Amino acid sequence: MSVARPVVLLLSGPNLNLLGERQPDIYGTATLEEHVAAARKEAERHGLDIEHVQSNVEGDLVAAVHGARGRCAAIVVNAAALTHYAWSLSDALETFEGPVVELHLSNPSGREAWRHTSVVAPVADGLVAGLGGHGYVLAITAVARLLEDRDASP
Ligand code: DQA
Repeated sequence: MSVARPVVLLLSGPNLNLLGERQPDIYGTATLEEHVAAARKEAERHGLDIEHVQSNVEGDLVAAVHGARGRCAAIVVNAAALTHYAWSLSDALETFEGPVVELHLSNPSGREAWRHTSVVAPVADGLVAGLGGHGYVLAITAVARLLEDRDASP
């Protein structure tokens, strides 16, 4: 009998479906599919599964977080521009019981002032930003470590 592996929900916000074509000088030339594949490979190394949801609609991401409650072990979220103003997503993430890692390809803190606010940060355990596509692998590594720590704590 096979035992189900813990699932990490990887959430991708608006316009990330255009990665590869969109501002490659900032976001690189890899596609979202390629980033998800790299995250999935790293997850497998840690005995985790990845479920990926990309949407250009705030409510879809809120619903995905609701669907993860009580079912997924952790969430990695690149909310894209929603990071900077989507309080409904922030509220939804706050209801999630597992670790949450905020992820960005670029470093929003070093860009335009409107990107300096993150409504995800107050409800995230940590942040991976500015490391390009490598961030997808690092975020999964971070989640695996956070889950190990949780399992080890009494
Ligand atoms: C982003 C940074 C956001 O400011 C921007 O709106 C995005 C992508 C990143 O991955 O660097 O769409 O989340």
